[in-house]
Amino acid sequence: MEPKDRLIFALDVPDLAEAVRYAKLLDGNIGCFKVGLQLFVSEGPAVLTAIREHSDTDIFLDLKLHDIPATVRSAVKAATRHDVQYLTVHSGSGLDMLRAAAHGAAGSSLKLLAVTVLTSAGPEEVAGPDASIKEMQLANLVLERARLAQSAGCHGVVCSGQEVSHVKNAVQNKIIAVVPGIRPAWANISKDDQSRITTPSKAVADGADLIVVGRPIRDAKDPKEAACRIVDEIAEASAHAS
Ligand code: C5P
Repeated sequence: MEPKDRLIFALDVPDLAEAVRYAKLLDGNIGCFKVGLQLFVSEGPAVLTAIREHSDTDIFLDLKLHDIPATVRSAVKAATRHDVQYLTVHSGSGLDMLRAAAHGAAGSSLKLLAVTVLTSAGPEEVAGPDASIKEMQLANLVLERARLAQSAGCHGVVCSGQEVSHVKNAVQNKIIAVVPGIRPAWANISKDDQSRITTPSKAVADGADLIVVGRPIRDAKDPKEAACRIVDEIAEASAHAS
């Protein structure tokens, strides 16, 4: 895998025209375009076709499915028809839903990723008497959900850079770890909804297989230059790691 293939750009834009603009601009500089809720709800599957018309880059459908097992299985099966490489499901509902999702993807090349705990969540969202116990509980919850996803047959998990090394150990490196909440040290981004953030270098050094970056590229003065800078960081961190 080349360093650029490890960079997923979150196409968090309002419409098809903007999506196509970024697809043209970043094609060849990143490994995957992530289509999330805003874009998919607004434009539907047509946006996937439009991206493919302008780029050979992989597509990640980030719908974070979370429903009763039968519904999730059918939705995953429907997603296999869109010829995307990755799809997310939530892991919070437990093993039955994750297994149903894996059944929905069976026989296709779709890689199912289970979201452990959102990177926007901080320790305050977990019950516990004090800050250090909450931190520990949050980390344990991520590990527990990663193991659950692996046993259900998911191809990977989504977790923050703060837990990724423990997650890779917990799954014995057998499934992939995708890390959002990436904030390069040089990015000029004001405080936002992300909480468990990390830099591209640290995420890769700690074992992230793929990283997801949205605003630091989308809102950069020169998005292509920002993407290339992140790819350089990935290359350097992976050279040190090997
Ligand atoms: O702009 P930013 O780099 O924060 O974008 C991160 C992207 O990753 C968003 O599209 C968000 O939906 C997604 N994501 C996340 N945390 C997760 C799973 C996905 O931030 N746990």
